Amino acid sequence: MKSLILYWSSGGNTQKVADSIKSVLTEKGVRVDMVKITEDLVIELYDYELVFFGAPSYQWIPPVPVQKFIKNTMNRYRGGVRPIGAPKKSGKFGVVFCTFGGIHTGVKEGYVAGKYMAQFFEHIGFFVLDEWYTPGKFQGWEEGSRLGKLGDISNRPDENDLTVIRNSTKELLQGLEFLK
Ligand SMILES: Cc1cc2nc3c(=O)[nH]c(=O)nc-3n(C[C@H](O)[C@H](O)[C@H](O)COP(=O)(O)O)c2cc1C
Repeated sequence: MKSLILYWSSGGNTQKVADSIKSVLTEKGVRVDMVKITEDLVIELYDYELVFFGAPSYQWIPPVPVQKFIKNTMNRYRGGVRPIGAPKKSGKFGVVFCTFGGIHTGVKEGYVAGKYMAQFFEHIGFFVLDEWYTPGKFQGWEEGSRLGKLGDISNRPDENDLTVIRNSTKELLQGLEFLK
């Protein structure tokens, strides 16, 4: 099984989640490439059986470079995705991870961004196995990181959050043993 961690991060929170996923994949002997998204990134996703796709929530959706990457990739794959329906590709699995501040409405501020990324996977025929949402401090807004709906998130993602990510990755790999 070949895996890919595709992510975007400005303040480092999503990067921490990506690093935690990578540590487990490496520990379990799964081949992994880790690539930071730029809007003009060209990458062959069908080269991988397992793709982790992560971004923060910015005004409830993925940041513009991630949106542009999705759009460019969709355009590139247009010839391969049938005009009607998005048939599943055999043995192609995706996992979404999203970090969010949740200052106003909590985890719901991450859901739309996560679903946006999940929809991209579905459209190109990947089975979406899971979506992981992790609080992350709001860079440059100290008050927001202390007084929001989730309370003090100024140290998130913390060790406990990253343990949840590592455990989720381990659990996922157990379920994909047949791909080895
Ligand atoms: C420009 C900007 C807009 C953001 N908008 C939201 C938002 O609408 N809802 C939310 O929950 N968090 C929001 N956040 C917080 C980020 O989602 C959170 O801090 C995330 O963990 C940042 O990830 P990064 O450190 O990997 O860049 C925003 C952060 C920035 C910088």
